Amino acid sequence: MKHLVAPSILSADFANLQQEASMLNASEADWYHVDVMDGAFVPNITFGMPVIKAIKKHATKPFDVHLMIERPERYIKDFKEAGADILTVHLEACTHLHRTIQEIKEAGMKAGVAINPHTSVFLLEDILADIDLVCLMSVNPGFGGQKFIENTYVKIEDLREMAEETNPDLLIEIDGGVSDQNAEKLIEAGADVLVAGSFVFNSENPTETISKLKSLDY
Ligand code: DX5
Ligand code: ZN
Repeated sequence: MKHLVAPSILSADFANLQQEASMLNASEADWYHVDVMDGAFVPNITFGMPVIKAIKKHATKPFDVHLMIERPERYIKDFKEAGADILTVHLEACTHLHRTIQEIKEAGMKAGVAINPHTSVFLLEDILADIDLVCLMSVNPGFGGQKFIENTYVKIEDLREMAEETNPDLLIEIDGGVSDQNAEKLIEAGADVLVAGSFVFNSENPTETISKLKSLDY
């Protein structure tokens, strides 16, 4: 499968979100990556359902919503209504992860699980067959523009191997510090989805930067 590129709107111009949506619609981006932070699970606060709903009106591509919030099970239906197509929750934020995953799927979304840099991929063993996507955090969640953590490559390889038996269609997404410096190596290691925030939106020509990430071969 050709890898997917999901620009993170966390680094977009929040005062011109309609314009940013037009840019993403016309670009080679596959998904919108939408980062929700609550100031509790992570130190930062971003935006919630009303903002997602407002952007969704102008978007023509799937919304990959990454919840960096405590007890995300409280808001599953709300994020569906706001426009989420894929809903990703953190393993570290869910006491009853299996139930939460079932509820996401019952609500009509694809289900993802994200893990922090210190969390072992092997903790996903008993949930892997039930999910559509694993989001490997390659920075500590909370902020855009941080430095990529090198240990991620080995996690991708281990996860790919685990998924071969239980869930060959699993998508492995990499989130944090992705740029043209590491994208090719990430894909080679087995990544399917590259999230990129600052690398795309802080570049001179975001549309071209997206094409660049998309055109990498392996
Ligand atoms: C970090 C977020 C990321 C972030 C990535 O907590 O989950 O999606 O927007 O930003 P960059 O690509 O700038 O590291
Ligand atoms: Zn994210």
